Amino acid sequence: MKGYVFRKNYIRVVSREAESGDDSLKRDLLGILDIKDELREIIDLAIIMKGESREGMENIAFKGRTLAMIFEKPSLRTRVSFEVGFTQMGGNAVYLSPNEIQIGKRESVHDVAKVLSRFADMIMYRAFDHENVVELARYSDVPVINGLDDVEHPCQAVADFMTMTEVKGDLRGKTLAWVGDGNNVLHSLMLGAAILGMNLRAAVPEGYDPKSGITEEAKRIAGENGSGIDVMRDPREAVKDADIIYSDTWVSMGDEAEKEKRLRDFSGFQVNRELMSLAQPNAVFMHCLPAHRGEEVTDEVMDSPSSVVFQEAENRMHAQKAIMIRLAGLR
Ligand code: CP
Ligand code: NVA
Repeated sequence: MKGYVFRKNYIRVVSREAESGDDSLKRDLLGILDIKDELREIIDLAIIMKGESREGMENIAFKGRTLAMIFEKPSLRTRVSFEVGFTQMGGNAVYLSPNEIQIGKRESVHDVAKVLSRFADMIMYRAFDHENVVELARYSDVPVINGLDDVEHPCQAVADFMTMTEVKGDLRGKTLAWVGDGNNVLHSLMLGAAILGMNLRAAVPEGYDPKSGITEEAKRIAGENGSGIDVMRDPREAVKDADIIYSDTWVSMGDEAEKEKRLRDFSGFQVNRELMSLAQPNAVFMHCLPAHRGEEVTDEVMDSPSSVVFQEAENRMHAQKAIMIRLAGLR
């Protein structure tokens, strides 16, 4: 069996240096901009590692290491892909359920960060509040990865750009159309698209715009890379001749109290066959999942040959393996 030779104990070394006050080597992924200069490389690494894994190549980069996974919200993909991915690389993942730690209630973010740093080599955190993710990273001595919060879902975006690369090749100049809420997933995709020189057109109902600061930053970066980021109201305008159509739930985790109003406000924003027909003939449909079939997308689109949603879901694992390897400085 082929295998890699990795620098041993690297993560612990990082951890100790952080304890001594020099945390310059500790790397976190709290938002896409944290990997701005290496997004392309991480996508390429994820594709390479997926191929190596398919060939049966052994990767024991995290042998004897532990990943702590804190979840304040439910999950299928994030939980399973991190756990399976870390286990495939020889490590052990510890799942901490929403009722377990109760960050900020049972114990302060600071103390949780300090305690987990003594047990784990890396922390993945799915949170309600982005500020808590930032604070955990500030006090943690080991790398922290944002597994979705109210502002970003960076791991999803890396997996999505990996999937787009697999199906569309070079992404520069390609157009990604978002139809739906101006939410966490859109924020990460906007920033990532700008970094990669893609055009992104987001159709969102009035009152559901993405955060203006993120839109402005994405526009600025896109301008440097010769592409454009546009927020509009009309889904038909957004999807016209697009290469990729993307939708997400209208009711994100934490927005449940607004469900009835949201279902009304988003009623014209369903991705169906008619909307797909306005895009490029070979356009693909993407969705971070879980999908609410019959709401933001029809069965017909979800189950059509244009849909790459399950390839996208699988890629969560390959993308996160590449992210963890990268944050640990192993490749
Ligand atoms: N896409 C995604 O993050 O799925 P889960 O909420 O199931 O983890
Ligand atoms: N925007 C959705 C994504 C779920 C993976 C949410 O935050 O619930």
